[in-house]
Amino acid sequence: MKPLIAGNWKMHGAPDWYDYPSRFNALLPENDRKALDILMCPPALFIESLVRKSSELNIHVGAQNCHAETSGAHTGEISTEMLKSVGARFVIVGHSERRADGEMDADILAKALAAIRGGITPIVCVGETLLERESGHANNVVTAQLVASLGGVDLTTGPEIVVAYEPVWAIGTGMTATPDDIVAMHARIRAYVGPKIRILYGGSVKPNNAKEILKAPNVNGALIGGASLDMDSFAAIAKAAL
Ligand code: 13P
Repeated sequence: MKPLIAGNWKMHGAPDWYDYPSRFNALLPENDRKALDILMCPPALFIESLVRKSSELNIHVGAQNCHAETSGAHTGEISTEMLKSVGARFVIVGHSERRADGEMDADILAKALAAIRGGITPIVCVGETLLERESGHANNVVTAQLVASLGGVDLTTGPEIVVAYEPVWAIGTGMTATPDDIVAMHARIRAYVGPKIRILYGGSVKPNNAKEILKAPNVNGALIGGASLDMDSFAAIAKAAL
């Protein structure tokens, strides 16, 4: 399975970041990363300019959210069809920062189905909080999220769906799950999604821990926040996947 190295820029970026794909390419040229898929997910309004600069470099661009409907009276929202029309190939759905703002599994399922319908690949995020882990509920929480946010999705299609395991307590904290915890949770997710779906790990992935994380069984790439904003560290993480 081709590893997917994905950067979630969150609410960071500016118009002049359009040159990040070429800066990345200078550090890890296309010829040297044919074994990888590289993805940058900037804020939605920068997608189009980034696509223009990245498509020739074979770097994918994705969104961080979408609406479940194609069009309609939904102020401030963007449909998957709109994202696709400007060149987005992936969309993150159900990120814990959005779940914390009230996004529910049912919303996430609707968005994942909308993405598939719209022809872009959803990256469906799951992960437990620190309280849930410490109280021994991590497995149940993640399984429940998988069932509720992927129920009805055809998981036999392979690369058209990605799952990201992001323990909430590891995001932006510098803490990562232990290799044993990652292996155990990814095996559990693999048992649910079957053999064809890529499973990413996310949560404080940095150049110094990427190799160990990315070599774990059933880790098919990474979803990277802070370290994806700096092309030196993003490229270093991608190199660790080679
Ligand atoms: P950090 O890599 O900054 O911990 O963020 C992870 C994340 O939330 C990616 O979606």
